[in-house]
Amino acid sequence: MGRYLVTGGAGYVGSHLVHALVDRGDAVVVLDDLRQGHRAAVPAAAELVVADLADAKRLAEVFAGWRFDAVFHFAALSLVGESMRDPARYIIENVGNSMRLADAAVKAGVLRFVLSSTAALFGDPEVVPIEEEARLAPANTYGDSKLMVERGLDWMDRVHGLRSACLRYFNAAGADPAGRAGEDHDPETHLVPLAIGAALGTRPALTVFGDDYPTPDGTCIRDYIHVADLADAHLRVLERLEQGSCRYNLGTGTGYSVKQVIEAVGRIGGRPVPHSYGPRRAGDPAVLVAGSAKLRRETGWAPRFGTLDDIVRTACAWHNAHPQGYGDRG
Ligand code: UFG
Repeated sequence: MGRYLVTGGAGYVGSHLVHALVDRGDAVVVLDDLRQGHRAAVPAAAELVVADLADAKRLAEVFAGWRFDAVFHFAALSLVGESMRDPARYIIENVGNSMRLADAAVKAGVLRFVLSSTAALFGDPEVVPIEEEARLAPANTYGDSKLMVERGLDWMDRVHGLRSACLRYFNAAGADPAGRAGEDHDPETHLVPLAIGAALGTRPALTVFGDDYPTPDGTCIRDYIHVADLADAHLRVLERLEQGSCRYNLGTGTGYSVKQVIEAVGRIGGRPVPHSYGPRRAGDPAVLVAGSAKLRRETGWAPRFGTLDDIVRTACAWHNAHPQGYGDRG
């Protein structure tokens, strides 16, 4: 049994990892300020500490109270558009909080750190699928803030021996196959929940951002990875950390277009997705697909919910059961 600190563990991806840890009998402390997270997303077996990562004193107290084996760091600002309106906030918060957390971990003797990073590190890639060695060229402040954190963690390894795994998520989607957690952001900007909400009538009709991309059907292609498979990858890289710091791209290696997502939601959910076509969204690359060979080879990971249908089926089930999400927005 391990003991783990999970920041942002009440959020979308974080809560799925917390369930996976609790399921295998680990002790988990979730640190979340509940600005985006949901109390109801945290399983009863985990301890929830409602606190801000900017509070260094509180952080030190949390570390002093437990002997953690590792830290999983999910908590971050993560909206690309917002990051381009307020770059300073993204750098101050994402970089500052992450380094404060890494510093508190080192001071408490915790030398294992897993970071939620992002495909946004690669900007508009020159080559697809995107391998770990691809050029790092973030096209927005959100992506660059994560790159700065990855670099900070490199230094923490060289200076203090803090071993880190940085996991560059592609498009996290889907919901807990057991129905215990799902996707509920405010504001919601992600395609799958917006399409499902449009079909259910809980959200407005979907606007497709551009159908003139150089792709087979003209809409953008993304690598949608099931959130339970993401959680599984975290457990595997934790073992891999014994051999030293590592960086992985986390996707399935297969891409689907916006039109394919709309079709799958309509077919699986049993209701068509009302949608129209609008202009391109600034900064959207035509195709983002991960090269997943390194992760598979080095950790034995393989997606268990590897098709778009698996993702849409679990997401539809959760949204059908929770049409208002967790129902805790004022
Ligand atoms: N899309 C629409 N209409 C919408 C919302 C999205 O057409 O209302 C399209 C987007 O243009 C894109 C695709 O659906 O082609 C997926 O969009 P998402 O917003 O769901 O996801 P992104 O690929 O834009 O973003 C993801 C992560 C970000 C990360 C980024 C890296 O959610 O955190 O990949 O480029 F920064």
